[in-house]
Amino acid sequence: MASPLNDPKLEALLDRLHMQSDAQVAEIDAYYARREHENMPVNDISFDDHTHRFYADKMVALDRNKAEFCYQLCRSLRATRVVEAGTSFGVSTLYLAAAVRDNQVENGVVIGTEYEPKKAEIARANFKEAGLSEFIELREGDLRQTLQDVGGPVDFMLVDIWEVALPALERVSPSLRPGAIVVTDNTAVDAGEYRDYFKFLNDPSNRFRTMTLPFKGGFELTVRV
Ligand SMILES: C[S@@+](CC[C@H](N)C(=O)[O-])C[C@H]1O[C@@H](n2cnc3c(N)ncnc32)[C@H](O)[C@@H]1O
Repeated sequence: MASPLNDPKLEALLDRLHMQSDAQVAEIDAYYARREHENMPVNDISFDDHTHRFYADKMVALDRNKAEFCYQLCRSLRATRVVEAGTSFGVSTLYLAAAVRDNQVENGVVIGTEYEPKKAEIARANFKEAGLSEFIELREGDLRQTLQDVGGPVDFMLVDIWEVALPALERVSPSLRPGAIVVTDNTAVDAGEYRDYFKFLNDPSNRFRTMTLPFKGGFELTVRV
């Protein structure tokens, strides 16, 4: 299927990165099968130290169709300031930065955040290879600190992080402009773990309308009203 990106160099890099991420999915499945066999907790979200170490070099990139959908939304919004919670190797960041570049807006930026230094280093190399570094501000550290101040009105936010989705949204919410869109990955799969997140989304004082889109695992589309 044709990609909306229309950038062969970027698409070649993304082909390679998606392939690398897909290959790791088998490793992740095997990890959980082993834990189940050993009667260890298998819930993705209740990370223990061992699981944290296991994920330290895993990409867990956003699925290609979801990332392309984010590109389209950012084009439609003419997004200038985009926030991404969970950058990893920077796969989704590349789609968002391509949209900001293609929007040809002034001071367009994608603020990404990642607390694994090695992943941040790889992400920066990917941004450079794609020629998109100038559109990305990668903040290294825990998003509870790095997203305290996003510097201005936000048009679009991607929440691609299983443990700290709510702290990420709580920090960025005051900066979301009316009409801004927040998308959140895997909200149907990990529904129990997102209970407090949905409580926040559905609290009228927070001014959101939300629906779950039928992408794999559920992809939450939330609008700031
Ligand atoms: C699902 S991955 C993001 C994948 C990325 N959006 C992509 O498409 O390539 C989530 C990332 O969030 C990072 N992370 C987890 N907790 C964090 C926190 N509290 N602060 C910053 N980064 C965090 C993890 O190291 C992981 O790389």
